[in-house]
Amino acid sequence: MIKLENITKIYHMGDSDVHALDGVTLHIKPHEFVSIIGPSGSGKSTLMNMIGCLDVPTGGRYWIDGVEGSKMTDNQLADLRNQKIGFIFQQYNLLSKLTAFENVELPLIYRGIPAEERAEMVKKALLRVGLLEKMNHKPTELSGGQQQRVSVARALSANPSLILADEPTGALDSKSGIEIMQMLHDLHEDGNTVVIITHDLNIAKQAERIITIRDGKITSDIDNKADRAGANNIKGSAIGDNENGKTADLEADLKEKEEFIQNLIEDKEVAE
Ligand SMILES: Nc1ncnc2c1ncn2[C@@H]1O[C@H](COP(=O)(O)OP(=O)(O)O)[C@@H](O)[C@H]1O
Ligand SMILES: [Mg+2]
Repeated sequence: MIKLENITKIYHMGDSDVHALDGVTLHIKPHEFVSIIGPSGSGKSTLMNMIGCLDVPTGGRYWIDGVEGSKMTDNQLADLRNQKIGFIFQQYNLLSKLTAFENVELPLIYRGIPAEERAEMVKKALLRVGLLEKMNHKPTELSGGQQQRVSVARALSANPSLILADEPTGALDSKSGIEIMQMLHDLHEDGNTVVIITHDLNIAKQAERIITIRDGKITSDIDNKADRAGANNIKGSAIGDNENGKTADLEADLKEKEEFIQNLIEDKEVAE
């Protein structure tokens, strides 16, 4: 689905260079549910911009569904983004002059979908996030949680194969955050690839794969499938036959992973 090979991104700031990404190699496969966690300034948003073809790297190569990004023109990249990727941002990024309906409709207009079909798709998406009755409301007439639900509807309306969310719950109260996460879980269940960027371990832990990033480098890449299945399943698999013949105590393993990630985050927070 997405393959990055030795990607670098350097921002020139006056006389100094900021190495926002410093040789990132990453393969995200179809139907994966991945979280990318790291402290503030670690390069998460820059990485999201690369995965989402919103920006071009300084160095390295990348492929989207087997097509090499650096060989595409800006227009081709824009089309690809529009067809394959649904974005969710921390600050919703809804257009304030447009209604919920019109916001969700926008990417479908870019895709050249005829009006009637568009209306069907918009309503289906808004129904899915439970906001059909608010379709004529402007963002300012909606709560933060509702605005983020509109942005989820916008992301999913065009049936993208990849949902990319940058701190999707960062601006929300905990109840709205849980609702948004549930929607992302549902989208994954439906067969979408979901990538969540976050600095929150509780969010990251919900994914099947947890990638940590620090100073523009990937510092760990953890399979979280067994852990995510819940404590009962973890115990079950620890007692039962383990595929690899390992008898590792998976619960201890989970705890260790959590501590490992937590340390990564806390270290940095202390340093900042
Ligand atoms: N447009 C930009 N111009 C200059 N520096 C930038 C720009 N965007 C990000 N950076 C720098 O790159 C580093 C990574 O930023 P970012 O990807 O936004 O991190 P995160 O999302 O993890 O907080 C930071 O040091 C940041 O200051
Ligand atoms: Mg960021």
